[in-house]
Amino acid sequence: RTVAFLASGGLDSCTITHWLASHGVRVVCYTADLGQGDEPDLGAVAERMRACGAAEAHVLPLVDEVAEAGLGAVQAQARYEGGYWNTTPLARYVTVRGALRAMAKAGITVLSHGATGRGNDQVRFQLATNMLAPSVEVYAPWRDGEFLARFGGREEMIEYCLAHELPIKPPGQAKYSTDANLLGLTHEAGELERLTTPASFVTPEMGVRPTEAPEEPEAVRVVFDAGRPVEVGGRPTGSAQAALRVANEIGGRHGVGIGLHLVENRFVGVKSRGVYEAPGMELLGQAYAFLLQLLLDRRARRLFDTVSAYLAEQIYQGYGEDLGSSLARGVVAEVAALASGTIEVACYKGGVSFLGASDVPRSLYAEEAASMSRSEAFDHHDSEGFLRVLGVGAKVASRAGQVPGVA
Ligand code: ARG
Ligand code: SIN
Repeated sequence: RTVAFLASGGLDSCTITHWLASHGVRVVCYTADLGQGDEPDLGAVAERMRACGAAEAHVLPLVDEVAEAGLGAVQAQARYEGGYWNTTPLARYVTVRGALRAMAKAGITVLSHGATGRGNDQVRFQLATNMLAPSVEVYAPWRDGEFLARFGGREEMIEYCLAHELPIKPPGQAKYSTDANLLGLTHEAGELERLTTPASFVTPEMGVRPTEAPEEPEAVRVVFDAGRPVEVGGRPTGSAQAALRVANEIGGRHGVGIGLHLVENRFVGVKSRGVYEAPGMELLGQAYAFLLQLLLDRRARRLFDTVSAYLAEQIYQGYGEDLGSSLARGVVAEVAALASGTIEVACYKGGVSFLGASDVPRSLYAEEAASMSRSEAFDHHDSEGFLRVLGVGAKVASRAGQVPGVA
């Protein structure tokens, strides 16, 4: 019987592939190219998986797809629990979609992954598969009693791989676990599990810590066309991937989105501690936020914020492919269609601040109406009557004893 295994190429991938193969399973490994910087040679990963017993090993080119997913999250302003750009979950959906497409062509009906039984990723892999391909079975070795009885942790896997002469990468003294793709890095586990370990324990890989960023701010112009960043920092960006690469570089060197620290609520009900890097998402996300604020009146803003928080949670929890998420994306897309204009921001020691906006055709900001000095748009006499009307209710509430008043 044939099983598709989503292989990152690490210790777990080598162990699981060999263990399945030794049980007579025909293992077809799929490694997603998501622009992860930690594995520059994915061909070598595929070769390693074959050496570990995979019957076939393929690389799935998914960088553009994960970049599009990232841009969608920027447009939705979808940060989980107020901060995390969901870089790992977004990539999980893209990986599942890519693998399911390849599996359908190859006629494979079992999808296997190496996520543990304690985390969020197992939920995302499973729910995304169940929703996109309900007849595909999901097999997670880390929830299989036989596998668990054999492998308790890293040490047993290392021993196993050495005993079978599998070409694992030299087991480094990894002090925490990192998941990487073009959108960002998530660091957790290991020594980060102790809350006395500071977030600065993590060595940034996509840029520098804010405290180590240059003393001079850098002005960055982002040109949006219907929600898409078509120019970033003077460079034309014809694709989401290009925009994220440029934004990662600029944001990264100023510590933007680097080292975000979160004690987050996992879907499975426990809290976990993560340190995150997402310089490009943060830079583009903040620039987009400034643009949005020119477009949305307060009622639209309120709806948008609700949709944004909702979608962030949906994506995090593994429901990124369901009807609710699709409805929410419809709202986000309708707003994105209005989002054209040039936003200039300053990047400085981890912060992104507003410098200016121009050429925003759908902007509601009218200098004339906002001005404190000119009175053509706002007649002060009209305000007199308007405030008297508002005052009626205020006085009634006070006389009814609902407001404590001044002593
Ligand atoms: N807590 C983050 C999430 O649930 C990251 C999970 C994966 N990270 C990792 N280093 N293995 O999306
Ligand atoms: C894992 O446990 O496999 C990674 C962390 C997570 O899924 O939350």
